[in-house]
Amino acid sequence: MNGLSGLGYSIERLTEEASKARARAYVPYSGFAVGAVAVDADGSLHHGCNVENAAYGPTNCAERTALFRAIADGRKAGEFKAVAVIGDTDRPITPCGVCRQVMAELCGPDMPVILSNVRGETRVTTVSELLPGAFTAKDMGN
Ligand code: THU
Repeated sequence: MNGLSGLGYSIERLTEEASKARARAYVPYSGFAVGAVAVDADGSLHHGCNVENAAYGPTNCAERTALFRAIADGRKAGEFKAVAVIGDTDRPITPCGVCRQVMAELCGPDMPVILSNVRGETRVTTVSELLPGAFTAKDMGN
């Protein structure tokens, strides 16, 4: 069971929404556009794209843009219902380690993560599958 039944959106629709976000990517350095969408507890969608920087390091991935945007808009950590991501990869896109850590912080371990590529391939996984053994607040005694 991957928690997709109570989502209110199909995998196809969320992938389409992530594609819309991808069209807004700011990628003058890599040319590699990524889009993401986070579904919040109310079922509202929060879109994100990657935003690059000439200094490279400040680049923000699409997944983090979507989640940070949702948090800035008042959504609560642990209440997201899903995240969908899309990029032009051979296999369904696979989130970077930093984004996995951010998902481990802001999303529940069983939250579904829908990974797609532009050729229509999709893989559904979860936060804890993407980052087993994540360092979290619990490890700090919180
Ligand atoms: N990127 C994302 O936005 N999400 C991913 O899942 C993988 C990588 C971005 C970061 C950078 O702007 C570009 O893709 C190439 O790494």
